[in-house]
Amino acid sequence: MNKIVFATNNKHKLDEIRQITAGKLEILSLSDINCHDEIEETGATLEENALIKAQYIKDKYGFDCFADDTGLEVEALNGAPGVISARYAGEHCNAQDNMKKLLHELKIGGSQMQGKTNRKARFRTVIALILDSEKHFFEGEIEGKIIEEERGTAGFGYDPIFQPLGYNETFAELGDDVKNRISHRALATNRFVEFLQ
Ligand code: IMP
Repeated sequence: MNKIVFATNNKHKLDEIRQITAGKLEILSLSDINCHDEIEETGATLEENALIKAQYIKDKYGFDCFADDTGLEVEALNGAPGVISARYAGEHCNAQDNMKKLLHELKIGGSQMQGKTNRKARFRTVIALILDSEKHFFEGEIEGKIIEEERGTAGFGYDPIFQPLGYNETFAELGDDVKNRISHRALATNRFVEFLQ
């Protein structure tokens, strides 16, 4: 089976990508290659940030490698938090802080004063792959809506407030098996695996 390094320190992402690629790819984590660095995400887009992470590992360790960058794009907030999803509520905030801020922004109306009624949102993942020094990008997105308060305990990040289109449960209620079949990350990862095969 092909082995490839996934440039992330996020254990949830690692678990999800391992489940999505099970039987097709062997995913090495950063700790598997003895890398414990925090890679700074200084890009202005998901594509740039995904590439920064993959390039860092390629340059420092020489391994072919991929990275994922994900954003939650909320229509009534003109696409925010988007590329700053991880630090929406501030530099050292956690998922609770981010969700709280997002729910607050929608409650006070959002930038188009329609946050109370327009709850449309989507998750978008970009995977950057560096293979034999060539760069490739794969994208996946899922439409849905932001509910009024957190529901569910599975998943991570904004999962308790994101309900994918066609479901009555949030990602955090649907759990890993469903999320890893339909999610933004699953779609991007399946495209990436198809390319490698
Ligand atoms: P990054 O891709 O690591 O920069 O993540 C951006 C932000 O989105 C972080 O706050 C993550 O917790 C959150 N995030 C990334 N992927 C997901 C997901 O699949 N579900 C919910 N939140 C996510």
